[in-house]
Amino acid sequence: DDKHNMAVERTLSIIKPDGVEKNKIGNILARFESAGLRIAALKMAHLSRAEAEGFYYVHKARPFFGELTEFMSRGPVVISVLEGADAVAKNRELMGATDPAKAAPGTIRKDLATSVGENTVHGSDSAENAAWEIAYFFAGSELT
Ligand code: PPS
Repeated sequence: DDKHNMAVERTLSIIKPDGVEKNKIGNILARFESAGLRIAALKMAHLSRAEAEGFYYVHKARPFFGELTEFMSRGPVVISVLEGADAVAKNRELMGATDPAKAAPGTIRKDLATSVGENTVHGSDSAENAAWEIAYFFAGSELT
């Protein structure tokens, strides 16, 4: 049935400022490609506080909103669109749990991240949110 078909999807990934600071851009992008995800769009950017707040608008009432948006705007990030079979779930599997201490061995967060705040990568949590997140950062002409 339908829900067991692996749909070709797109998802948004962000290598957060801590990942860039630690020189892990290539390490992380290599994990995506090795897992069969195609990089369909890619850019580096230093988000303004307002851009980070807009992106994380859904979390604006959470107690960590200020900390999260300050962190996400403190240095450059690498934003990409990953494409492939079941891309949303596959990316989240590669990332590991939000809290690096709870992330499975071999995941990006287990291997590279230090805390629930500075957890190295963001990944869309559904295909619907991925479409919104991709449109937040990329024009249609930037997608290949
Ligand atoms: S959710 O909505 O249940 O998925 O929320 P969660 O995954 O726990 O967190 C959503 C994003 O907020 C970040 N986060 C934090 N940042 C700073 N401080 C604290 N304490 C904190 N807790 C959660 C978390 O890394 C998630 O970021 P993204 O970029 O969405 O992965």
